[in-house]
Amino acid sequence: MALLVSSWSNGIQSVPKDYVMPPERRPGDFVSVCNEIPVIDLQENPNVDRSQIVQQILKASQEFGLFQVINHGVSAKMMEDIRVLYDEFFNMSIDDKLGVYSETFGTGCTLYTSGLDYAKEDVHYWKDTLKHRSYPLEEHTPSWPEKPVRYREEVGKYVVEVRKVAFKILDLIGEGLGLKEGHFIKVSQEQAMAINYYPPCPDPSLAMGIGGHTDPNLITFLQQDQYGLQIHKDGKWMGIDPIPNAFVVNLGYQLEIISNGKLKGVEHRGVTSSTAARTSIVTFFGPDPILPVVVEPAKELVTSNTPQMFKSYQYNNFIADYLAYLVKPLPRTGTPLDPYRL
Ligand code: OGA
Ligand code: NI
Repeated sequence: MALLVSSWSNGIQSVPKDYVMPPERRPGDFVSVCNEIPVIDLQENPNVDRSQIVQQILKASQEFGLFQVINHGVSAKMMEDIRVLYDEFFNMSIDDKLGVYSETFGTGCTLYTSGLDYAKEDVHYWKDTLKHRSYPLEEHTPSWPEKPVRYREEVGKYVVEVRKVAFKILDLIGEGLGLKEGHFIKVSQEQAMAINYYPPCPDPSLAMGIGGHTDPNLITFLQQDQYGLQIHKDGKWMGIDPIPNAFVVNLGYQLEIISNGKLKGVEHRGVTSSTAARTSIVTFFGPDPILPVVVEPAKELVTSNTPQMFKSYQYNNFIADYLAYLVKPLPRTGTPLDPYRL
């Protein structure tokens, strides 16, 4: 438990040396928030037809691999309640957190710190994470934290609501790509959550909250109310403006592959702040890594002008390769997609 950043960082005056990133992995020059990142309004509006929304989402997914959605259907009250719940969770006593604490990232519900394998890291990330699978509820709620006592009930409702938004967005993306309805159903059965807690850091220029990565899954929905998230585009890092009650939607590698390269998974990272703790509530959708799910570019998108760019493969193999890539020492060459290209 002593490993959790939140358990020892309160009031600390300098960054401990095993959290000081080598210069090339530091946040670097000041990154301002970028106003060009699309914000998509899902409010039913008689003056906006569905095809306009489809086009906005498609363009954002091609250009940025990321957009924000507002009026998405999860109520402001639910967004607020879940934020309050996780503030309470991360502020609980160490004893109350012990039930889910683990020294390394695991497969069940775990509260762990930094990256995937703390013991093997040369330098650690300034973050603690609670992670668990979420859906179907009956299967996964028994592994969730028992405290705060309303955790399972409240998070259970949130899981169901976020799922509705996700399928709404996936339908719009499928429509934009010209895919048959329901194309994404079998590749979005796994729903999981990571709640990342980044305590205030005495010197954010030296530390990193979460290092640059592209999510391995299909699509990710992130709720945040503090700045910290950045994306890598055209060789530079750009900041994402936290919009109250919005979801940041980012595309993972599976969408890049299924769209036959038409859409882009986006590289992103999280920086820390010296003044505020930041919590991001992240929901991942992707193929179930336990089932033998085959992933491949959609047949509709493979034509004589747009030949198949990626192999057909089993998702559990992709995840194994992705994890192996992540634990490779830096600097790494290539990307986890390379072995899957044709
Ligand atoms: C993640 C992630 C970013 C953040 O959990 O995959 O990219 O802002 N998190 O916490
Ligand atoms: Ni991510």
